Amino acid sequence: MGKKSLCLVISCALLAYFVYTPLPDNIEQPWKLMMTWAAMRVHIHLSAFLDILGFPRFVLFRLLEVPPTSDAKVTVTDTLFNKVPVRVFEPKPKSSTMRRAVFYIHGGGGAMGNATWIPYDYLGRQMVDKLDAVVISTNYRLSPQYHFPTQFEDVYDSLRWFLRKKVLAEYGVDPTRICIAGDSAGGNLAAAVTQQLLDDPEVKIKVKIQSLIYPALQALDMNLPSCQENAHMPILRRYELVEFWSSYFTSDKALKEAMLANQHTPVESSHLFQFVNWSTLLPQRFQKGHLYTNPIHGPSDLAKKYPGFLDVRASPLLASDSKLQGLPLTHILTCQYDVLRDDGLMYASRLRAAGVQVVHEHVEDWFHGILIFSRDFRVGQRELIKYLRWLEENL
Ligand SMILES: *[C@@H]1O[C@H](CO)[C@@H](O)[C@H](O)[C@H]1NC(C)=O
Ligand SMILES: *[C@@H]1O[C@H](CO)[C@@H](O)[C@H](O)[C@H]1NC(C)=O
Repeated sequence: MGKKSLCLVISCALLAYFVYTPLPDNIEQPWKLMMTWAAMRVHIHLSAFLDILGFPRFVLFRLLEVPPTSDAKVTVTDTLFNKVPVRVFEPKPKSSTMRRAVFYIHGGGGAMGNATWIPYDYLGRQMVDKLDAVVISTNYRLSPQYHFPTQFEDVYDSLRWFLRKKVLAEYGVDPTRICIAGDSAGGNLAAAVTQQLLDDPEVKIKVKIQSLIYPALQALDMNLPSCQENAHMPILRRYELVEFWSSYFTSDKALKEAMLANQHTPVESSHLFQFVNWSTLLPQRFQKGHLYTNPIHGPSDLAKKYPGFLDVRASPLLASDSKLQGLPLTHILTCQYDVLRDDGLMYASRLRAAGVQVVHEHVEDWFHGILIFSRDFRVGQRELIKYLRWLEENL
């Protein structure tokens, strides 16, 4: 064998080693997923490299942005709601009756994502098409340039702008049929702003539905059974989850290290652990193979410097029962092979215990981020159709 063919064989072996990811048996289109995941990992490494060279983080993701393009069915406009950029999708045909509305918050770990990204643009159009709804897809400033509470405040500012009689009338929206929805970090923000509305004397509108799609809901326990089981699963590994969470609050690596060790919550805040206690909040089948141990506390200085991770606006699972009682009909989607699975499951338990009506959809055969795969994977398409049908019937 010549040197060239030896190089080729070695390169192929290395490539195969990089691409091959062991996946659970019930995953459809496994090779397509492995290739997609490998491409995402290349992108993560490239981003880190570009970052070192001084380019903006995730600069390659700009390729995912699409301009606001109207067509026969949908009018798409980029505008500002209280200085926050939003993309608005409106059904084209004039309607004599008022329409329902979805206020949507994209995901991306609070560090990336944009309402202009192809998957979110697609989702907005699908909602218009299947629900005849007005869709507001909001942006918000991202980490590491901006830390909490900027993300929360941007979303809340744009939501409050929208939830005024005058603005709703302008868009022809029925104030009794509004849903706040978001996926992943957007699901976190959706849960947080929906809670905040309950205490806001200036907002008179009652939201009909909150829809939390594989949401992140707490930053206290990074060793939930779902974190342990899915630490290395596509498309969100435990390491990146912790990285997103810590950089949501600070660029100080000390918080990341403490979160990776799951020793970041000080003893003074130990009462908060009852709200993320998976031995009481997680249904039995998800506890299998795990033994609950009481948490190990971290130093007080981290929580003093970066109190955000103990803030209910960042960790909506930390809300009191009396607060939860006021929440609207809640739709929660969780995925089996997702580090964030147990966040959603525990919130569902807490809401039900507080008397909130909860509709929980658990996807047994996929990972984090299923809806952003709805254009490329059959499972994603299946779940999107199911989701839109549910909204069609309930909003
Ligand atoms: C989202 O995309 C728009 C248009 O492509 C860009 O101007 C804006 O800076 C992006 N927003 C964030 C928060 O990155
Ligand atoms: C979690 O729940 C278990 C079982 O009810 C209990 O023994 C444990 O003390 C709780 N831990 C915390 C930190 O709330």
